[in-house]
Amino acid sequence: MDINSLYHKARTIRLFTKEEVSQDAFHTILENVRVASNATNRQTLRYIVIKNPELVSKINNSVIYASLLPQKSNSPQSDQFPPYYIVIVQTQPSAISDIDTGIAADVIKISAASMNLGTCIMASFKNLDSLLHIKEKERLRLIIALGHPAHQSHIVEYKDDFRYYKDEHDDYYVPKKPLDDIVTFL
Ligand SMILES: Cc1cc2nc3c(=O)[nH]c(=O)nc-3n(C[C@H](O)[C@H](O)[C@H](O)COP(=O)(O)O)c2cc1C
Repeated sequence: MDINSLYHKARTIRLFTKEEVSQDAFHTILENVRVASNATNRQTLRYIVIKNPELVSKINNSVIYASLLPQKSNSPQSDQFPPYYIVIVQTQPSAISDIDTGIAADVIKISAASMNLGTCIMASFKNLDSLLHIKEKERLRLIIALGHPAHQSHIVEYKDDFRYYKDEHDDYYVPKKPLDDIVTFL
């Protein structure tokens, strides 16, 4: 798939199958994020890959899925939770480190999508610092769910409402503003 189609395909996935993600796929994702652009090339982010089912389960209970949807339908059922998480930790938290974190999250998302894997980038979660041994000066900034998708998600036309929604098959529809609304040429 060419890179432009990939960006359109790479939607947030919130329900997953239990199928394993191969070591090669993990390596590709982590290798791409290793070489990502970052401020002054200081490379201050670190990553924790959570594969241990007990830890995965604790994180499942700490993250908040799809806060825009009604509470009854926003969370995965137990058999739909992601099998893995990648955690982004800022070793020198700052505003510029937040930008590095966003870039890293997108590299992880697009790399995963290129291998037909799904991700959900999450900034809403309860404190996991002690569980994941985050050091005092560090900041656990984003948690990314990773696995094989168990639903689809499509871009739809934006009609004055940014809220994504889903249908009876749990497939998502995500309104995106047209270029004319967000771009100025000077
Ligand atoms: C910085 C950031 C934080 C996010 N936090 C959450 C979150 O806590 N829970 C969640 O379910 N989705 C979260 N998302 C996913 C967004 O809701 C999703 O990207 C948005 O609805 C657009 O959908 P799309 O990614 O398919 O384009 C987050 C995305 C970003 C970039």
